[in-house]
Amino acid sequence: MWLKSLTVANTLTGAALASPAFLQRRQSDLGAFIEKESILAQQGILNNIGAEGALVQGASAGIVVASPSKTNPDYFYTWTRDAGLTMLAEIEQLAAGTANASLESLIQEYVDSQVKQQVVANPSGTLSNGSGLGEPKFQVNITAFTGSWGRPQRDGPALRASALIAYGNYLIAHGKTSLAKTNLWPLIQNDLSYVGQYWNQSTYDLWEEVNGSSFFTTAMQHKSLVEGAAFAAAVGETCPGCSVAPQILCHLQEYWNGSAIISNSPTNDRSGIDANSVIASIHIFDPAATCDDVTFQPCSARALSNHKVYVDSFRSIYTVNQGRSNGQAVAVGRYPEDVYQGGNPWYLATLAAAEQLYDALHQWDKQGSINITQLSIPFFSDLVSNATIGTHAKSSATYTAITQAVKTYADGFVSVVQEYTPSDGGLAEQFGRSTGDPVSAIDLTWSYAAFLTAVARRNGTVPASWGSPTVTSVPGQCSAATVAGSYATPTIGAW
Ligand code: NOJ
Ligand code: NOJ
Repeated sequence: MWLKSLTVANTLTGAALASPAFLQRRQSDLGAFIEKESILAQQGILNNIGAEGALVQGASAGIVVASPSKTNPDYFYTWTRDAGLTMLAEIEQLAAGTANASLESLIQEYVDSQVKQQVVANPSGTLSNGSGLGEPKFQVNITAFTGSWGRPQRDGPALRASALIAYGNYLIAHGKTSLAKTNLWPLIQNDLSYVGQYWNQSTYDLWEEVNGSSFFTTAMQHKSLVEGAAFAAAVGETCPGCSVAPQILCHLQEYWNGSAIISNSPTNDRSGIDANSVIASIHIFDPAATCDDVTFQPCSARALSNHKVYVDSFRSIYTVNQGRSNGQAVAVGRYPEDVYQGGNPWYLATLAAAEQLYDALHQWDKQGSINITQLSIPFFSDLVSNATIGTHAKSSATYTAITQAVKTYADGFVSVVQEYTPSDGGLAEQFGRSTGDPVSAIDLTWSYAAFLTAVARRNGTVPASWGSPTVTSVPGQCSAATVAGSYATPTIGAW
């Protein structure tokens, strides 16, 4: 009790004593970093996309290379996951009207490149029964990678479908439904067919290490089928495989342990606390949704409780986090037990921790209140020590105090990234757990995309709804129902 009131006092005095000039300076420092880094991040992405990308000579047009790094690690490949997430971030810019005029032709090149990639026979299989769509990575000239690897990775088709659907919805909104149907639907249909047919088979997780079930993969699969059904209808088609979406949602509930998401099953002797869950939460963020626990919306009690458990798991293991106490932002990585390339904090994970909170702020603002529950109070108590269980209306002082504290906390994660970004603005994959210096692949495309989406949310730019509000209930009993897909060779259409 004594300690607790001391924290309250500290929090309040800290805020009261800081002179407005000091606060302004700090904020404008972060603001200036964001402004500068946003330009560098966008350029960093363009540099890694063929055929014109300055750092990826030899990459085919529209191919998104993970990183120009060719040794230790060799990331000079295109991963379906990294490419899908990156292009989704780009398509969002197009839809938000914040993109450069030339961006749309690059998006179209990405579409055309995937027409070629979908048909490449590879160690996961071929297009004829869909199996080849689960291959995680390809050579940058769109031929197969035949080395041994953790395959298949079944998040790829779902993520690519979501990116293509976002572009398709943009075309429809601009009166080009027939283009969406001819140039995009055949690709989307293959990917949705894959999800509907294979969702219940084991997969390597997004970190390419654990074979089994992965929360991120399940969450992305569910989203793709919900938005896929609506997209199919919008272009006058049907998606038989989309009918299994409720079963996938049912399975998604199984990762919840009462206070956090256990991201992998089996856990392979890990805690299961993993950025997998936070990255999933930001990509299933639906600006039209309420703080829904069932779909793990960013502002849901479940997702906030998970955020705390996840972030806290890195507080004591990284030297760079020394001196930062609960409720203060820290550097975070993939999962606490990670040893890959030193097992360091990741830029994209630290940015995802910020992004989830910006998403939550958007949702509270829209819904006009914050509901603190038994489950979410530990998250809130770290930030506002006198937080109480109950509903706090937007007009209340408590709501203002909470949202300010959450914004400060979210900005803190971006400030951590700022602190460990070298002066040239390059974002590698990781930064040293003791030194803070960049580690592993340089100019990681996904790091730049993660920066852009976090900043977009901070600025209030949100993606279109994927239909989460239409998901109203979980089946009483889960089934493993699947639908055999139909796969057809897509062709490159005129734009
Ligand atoms: C390469 C993968 O890309 C990375 O995620 C993984 O940690 C290492 N292999 C070790 O398995
Ligand atoms: C390793 C990461 O674990 C994986 O998620 C990613 O797809 C590849 N690197 C390429 O960036």
